[in-house]
Amino acid sequence: MHKDLQEILISAAELDAGVKKLGERISRDYAGRCVTLVGVLKGCVLFMSDLAKSISLDTRLDFMMLSSYSGAHSTGVVRILLDLKESIEDYDVLIVEDIVDSGLTMEYMLQNLKTRRPRSLEVCTLLDKPSRRKAQVPIKYSAFTIPDKFVVGYGLDYNGIYRNLPYIGVLKESAIEGKTSCR
Ligand code: IMP
Ligand code: MG
Repeated sequence: MHKDLQEILISAAELDAGVKKLGERISRDYAGRCVTLVGVLKGCVLFMSDLAKSISLDTRLDFMMLSSYSGAHSTGVVRILLDLKESIEDYDVLIVEDIVDSGLTMEYMLQNLKTRRPRSLEVCTLLDKPSRRKAQVPIKYSAFTIPDKFVVGYGLDYNGIYRNLPYIGVLKESAIEGKTSCR
């Protein structure tokens, strides 16, 4: 375990099993169709690559990157830093996120992508942290529901670090206070 963690919440084996199960569900639900996974960078990257491999359908991958908003803002206003490369009009779209926390990012994604007239639009998140929800977003697929703890690993970061850990862990308080970069 990484020295900055106090515990491993979800092991690599549990992640593997959970993501595979999700991929199989999606493959059944969209049988005979093509799915477009829209990943929200950067947190989606490890999850999306494993998820895509466990979907047995024709699949398109595209990405968006949003500016993060400060926690004090309740409106969840975000800016698009990187937009989709392809049209999603008349496609079955799944938004792929690392975690839904307040729900504000996902609320924005849903509103934004809806205007592009996809055939269908659903949410797929690795982690659901429902305790601090501000926007009630419909989550069709989630692999794990977690308590109100700040987690890192498997795509999730703190100050840009820890995304490469192959498991989900809880950061030590000392790491939150002390660490600003890994330079
Ligand atoms: P929201 O609060 O649902 O809008 O979540 C916005 C973003 O906050 C997520 O996509 C994550 O990038 C980040 N985030 C929320 N909770 C955590 C966490 O526990 N660890 C790391 N990032 C988090
Ligand atoms: Mg994110």
